[in-house]
Amino acid sequence: MSVEAEPTVNPWLEGNFAPVDDELDTGPLPVTGEIPAALTGEYLRNGFNPAVTPRPSYHWFDGDGMIHGVRLGDGAARYRNRWVQTKGLQAERREGRSLYGGMAEFTVPDADLLAEVGMVKNLANTNIIRHADRLLALWEAGHPTEMVADDLATIGETDLGGALVGPMTAHPKTDPDTGALCFFGASGFAPYLHYYELDAAGALVRREPVDLPRPVMMHDFVVTERHAVFFDLPAVFDIEGMLAGGPIVRWAPEHGARIGVMPRDGGSADVRWFELDPFYAFHFLNGWDDGDAVVVDGCRADDLVVGFGEDRVPAAGEFPHLHRWRLDLGTGAVTEEALDDRSGDFPRINDDHAGRRNRYGYVAHAGALTRTGGRFDGVVKHDLDAGTSTVHRYGDHHVCGEAVFAPDPDGHAEDDGWLLNFVYDAEADTSEFVILDARDLTADPVARVHLPRRVPFGPHGNWLPD
Ligand SMILES: [Fe+2]
Repeated sequence: MSVEAEPTVNPWLEGNFAPVDDELDTGPLPVTGEIPAALTGEYLRNGFNPAVTPRPSYHWFDGDGMIHGVRLGDGAARYRNRWVQTKGLQAERREGRSLYGGMAEFTVPDADLLAEVGMVKNLANTNIIRHADRLLALWEAGHPTEMVADDLATIGETDLGGALVGPMTAHPKTDPDTGALCFFGASGFAPYLHYYELDAAGALVRREPVDLPRPVMMHDFVVTERHAVFFDLPAVFDIEGMLAGGPIVRWAPEHGARIGVMPRDGGSADVRWFELDPFYAFHFLNGWDDGDAVVVDGCRADDLVVGFGEDRVPAAGEFPHLHRWRLDLGTGAVTEEALDDRSGDFPRINDDHAGRRNRYGYVAHAGALTRTGGRFDGVVKHDLDAGTSTVHRYGDHHVCGEAVFAPDPDGHAEDDGWLLNFVYDAEADTSEFVILDARDLTADPVARVHLPRRVPFGPHGNWLPD
């Protein structure tokens, strides 16, 4: 791919959004500081990394999945990365060009491609999880793609032993008490929503269709001890517009917004819907049951501005802020509260507290808003009980991603652990893997692993302890 002669005008291909074209396996890397001895395992993060020259309409979400891993153990850190070898990537590599459109421009594949790859290209690019000893690269519009943990080789798409009847969200939740994997699948075709639970061994134990009036882009959700909480927000799949070559998602505020609370042992008829003015939220921090109420914290925005066919800098209110909804099942009332006036997204917690009342939340701080949304320069630790927060900024010219909480196996407090993040130095054009002590974000990093080249920005990852 040669782009040096003509500067790109697509912001999703500039700076550290640009893909890398190599797959590495390093030995021990130089470290400033000391890697905590208790951290033995691998941090894996998915990302958007087009394998062939993308179309002019390319959006960040259209890139092929690439897994970046940092293995920690014996005080050392090693880096590796691999594309997820999807059928679509392999077909495009073979042809040497992009064969599919994307978020801003849908194309209908010819009959051969339809048979080989499908109507859409499963990008497997949004998250990577481990459940029941299976490593799964997730993409919300298709099946998971299974990978081999040892060498990050791609096995292929899986319907999880027949469990799936449609797509699977990239944001499943693990019940910390039972180990069950709780997730939904949102489809462009009826039934538009399913709720699923797999037990800790990976067997399907629940699959419930949930009625929705129209197909919507539902990116994340919340699971508490007793409830699943769905967000029916007005980012509508526009199938007709899409088939005419337009954007796949249309902002349709005339539909308002609804939050649905379903008992985990119930079905569609048991969902309690709460009506709200239109908003959008890509990501939720957590949610928990509080008597007759369900409390949900997430990153709320007034609007949906991520450049699906648009190209502008969002206004402050259009970028997400941490927000709380209290859904009272007794009275049917919703109480809302802004938890932060700073822009931020990519919220994470200590997942041992998922679905239970959490005290701490970690949110990527958007220091500036650009055509690509937020330029994340740090992480905010919220003490939700005290209503206070502390911030760690990674440094001038430094841009980070989602901070993933890795619990200290010897710890007891909720914040006993570390925050893991890829951090890009925009001046030096290099990346580091940075470990912060989650107990004290005001301190210098515990360790900074100097990576052999930059790691492009990407969405989500997880710490997988040995
Ligand atoms: Fe996400």
